[in-house]
Amino acid sequence: MTVVVTGATGRTGGRVARAARAAGLAVREASRATGFDWRERSTWAGVLAGADAAYLAYPTDIGSPEAAGAVGGVAREAVSLGVRRLVLLSARGEERARPAEEALRGSGAEWTVVRAAWFAQNFSEGPLVEELRLGGGLVFPAAEGLREPFVDVRDIADVVVAALVSGGRYVGREIDVTGPRLLTWGEAVAEVGAAAGRELSYRCVPAREYRERLTGFGVPDAEAGFLVELFEELLDGRNARLSDGVRQVLGRAPRDFAAFAREAAGAGTWA
Ligand SMILES: NC(=O)c1ccc[n+]([C@@H]2O[C@H](COP(=O)([O-])OP(=O)(O)OC[C@H]3O[C@@H](n4cnc5c(N)ncnc54)[C@H](OP(=O)(O)O)[C@@H]3O)[C@@H](O)[C@H]2O)c1
Repeated sequence: MTVVVTGATGRTGGRVARAARAAGLAVREASRATGFDWRERSTWAGVLAGADAAYLAYPTDIGSPEAAGAVGGVAREAVSLGVRRLVLLSARGEERARPAEEALRGSGAEWTVVRAAWFAQNFSEGPLVEELRLGGGLVFPAAEGLREPFVDVRDIADVVVAALVSGGRYVGREIDVTGPRLLTWGEAVAEVGAAAGRELSYRCVPAREYRERLTGFGVPDAEAGFLVELFEELLDGRNARLSDGVRQVLGRAPRDFAAFAREAAGAGTWA
């Protein structure tokens, strides 16, 4: 089986590519680095033609206004080229992601939607890392007592590959994937600090103040506005519960946040 992996240079795509190769699949990596651009229809067919399946990870956010059009477009093109099995990364509790999921379902593909919790790797890869490494803590609009089942992206990758290789078992299904433990943002930062051997602080700020911080960091105003509205919706307690998708699909417990923090600290992530 040949699988196209979008976002192959990113957090989930990189792990999906690795897990797919380990499972014996041929992997075709797709991102702008290899000539595939979600925003350029003319770049889609060259990457998709001749493949059997694809992992779709829409950049920035699956709930962004243009995501449904792009996901639907790529999915329909894939199906027309004979790429039938499509697995879409979506987000748990995110109503804004539903149009993109619907566009996938309407494409005629053998679809699976993987709805992930907040990534553990948001603390080790991406924009929050520098703040933890250089700023000595994290500022974010998640309330002090709000809890989230942070998921290790390697578990997402393993679930995606299982959905690709398990015949039709996960076709037409949404799978919620979370970590095994609910943590507040403050507790997660404290576990990162304990693993890194550093005192790290957490401070919750109101959404409006966070938007000003984002634009101060150079995030375009429209994107900052979208992100802050999204965080306000998502960080209301709706996701403060565990799901058993990882155990159902993989037959084992999800990786724990403390193990993630130890490994990332061992690699010098927050030194
Ligand atoms: N962060 C979370 O906690 C969380 C939770 C649930 C769901 N999600 C979803 O995860 C998705 C993002 O996945 P990720 O975090 O694995 O990705 P990521 O680490 O943010 O990396 C983005 C990837 O997309 C590629 N890319 C960027 N712009 C592109 C374009 N115009 N065309 C083609 N490729 C492009 C990048 O490579 P190039 O630069 O080479 O193009 C890179 O490989 C979003 O849909 C988000 O909603 C995130």
